[in-house]
Amino acid sequence: KISKKILVIGGDGIGPEVTRWGKRVLEAVAEKYGHEFVFDEGLMGHAAIEATGNPLPDDTLEKARKSDAILFGAIGHPKYDQDPSLKVRPEQGLLRIRKELGLYANLRPIKLFDELLSASSIKPEVLKGADILFFRELTGDVYFGEKKKADDGSWASDLMIYHAYEVERIARKAFEAARLRRKKLCSVDKANVLESSRLWRAVVQRVAADYPDVQCSHMFVDNAAMQLIRDPLQFDVILTANLFGDILTDEASQIAGSMGMLASASVGDGTGLYEPIHGSAPDIAGKGLANPLASILSAALMLQIGFQMQEEADAVLRAVEQVLKKGYRTVDIADKHTENSMIVGTDGMGQQIIQQLAYS
Ligand code: NAD
Ligand code: IPM
Ligand code: MN
Repeated sequence: KISKKILVIGGDGIGPEVTRWGKRVLEAVAEKYGHEFVFDEGLMGHAAIEATGNPLPDDTLEKARKSDAILFGAIGHPKYDQDPSLKVRPEQGLLRIRKELGLYANLRPIKLFDELLSASSIKPEVLKGADILFFRELTGDVYFGEKKKADDGSWASDLMIYHAYEVERIARKAFEAARLRRKKLCSVDKANVLESSRLWRAVVQRVAADYPDVQCSHMFVDNAAMQLIRDPLQFDVILTANLFGDILTDEASQIAGSMGMLASASVGDGTGLYEPIHGSAPDIAGKGLANPLASILSAALMLQIGFQMQEEADAVLRAVEQVLKKGYRTVDIADKHTENSMIVGTDGMGQQIIQQLAYS
């Protein structure tokens, strides 16, 4: 019997609403395959600030270090978004846990389920067969460079900085992954302008020499933003920096139909963290409308990458596919063109997946 300790951090807004279903799916998998998953809970973000004053309490970090994997929802609250002067902010919790756990590689798979071909605002013929794996660097860049501002409020700055070792370690991971896929890697940067991007490109070129079987190309980020929508099928693995990856993957969510479909795995030195790419979505929080599939697919990534449980991960993917095939849709992936789709809320979708898992 395989036993794993999983820390669940729901966070804020729709975070807890969707994470509940990611957890339920893990419970269903444990039951079906005879594993033992032991769950614990931790606070982070606005919820943690309210309870302790700290967006990442020591207790959560300690539990995180002791667990085999972390299932995370989302953090963020409009209160902070409306008031830039607040010094303690929910996002600091997420950035710090990534840094503390050394989670330098954020894998964001963009895979379009055929059933959702017409849910996207992009033409189906452009999208069909799209399958991209983003490697977004997660513990460097302008996110973690020195921050400064003038006391009188006349200027502020964030330092964009990369060290060669930071680029090299994620590049190696991305090339390894490309090797197991269609053997194409596109590194996205802004090397025509930024010094840190020129370092990035030089390091990627050096690493590429160790992977002659992988076709390596480089693209400027502005062009990449356009190419993603023009012809997503040209991409296999995309390797990019923290900020560019953040922006490009939200854009790329439209290739998969919705933000509510995109899962991610943050991995590095130790315990991995599995999370949807979306945020706390205050506009729909508390309404029972959020799509839980991003959390459920994040749970599948935990099974696959964190626990090497490929069969179990495939079972979750198949369940999602079957439920979509039956026509169940949350509003964000509702298809305006087919009459036979059934609109469900967060819990309706979650229940369908659990049932499908049990019967297949
Ligand atoms: P967001 O990702 O929360 O929402 C963007 C849009 O996508 C909204 O219209 C939302 O309703 C929709 N959406 C997101 N997830 C969905 C789902 N599962 N189902 C259906 N629709 C979904 O981004 P935002 O509005 O820019 O940010 C809101 C807050 O979340 C901010 O405070 C931000 O800092 C935070 N945030 C946190 C994370 C994270 O925790 N990883 C990521 C992004 C943003
Ligand atoms: C994400 C989010 C975070 C990021 C924020 C909330 C710090 O947008 O996980 O994509 O920018 O990395
Ligand atoms: Mn983001």
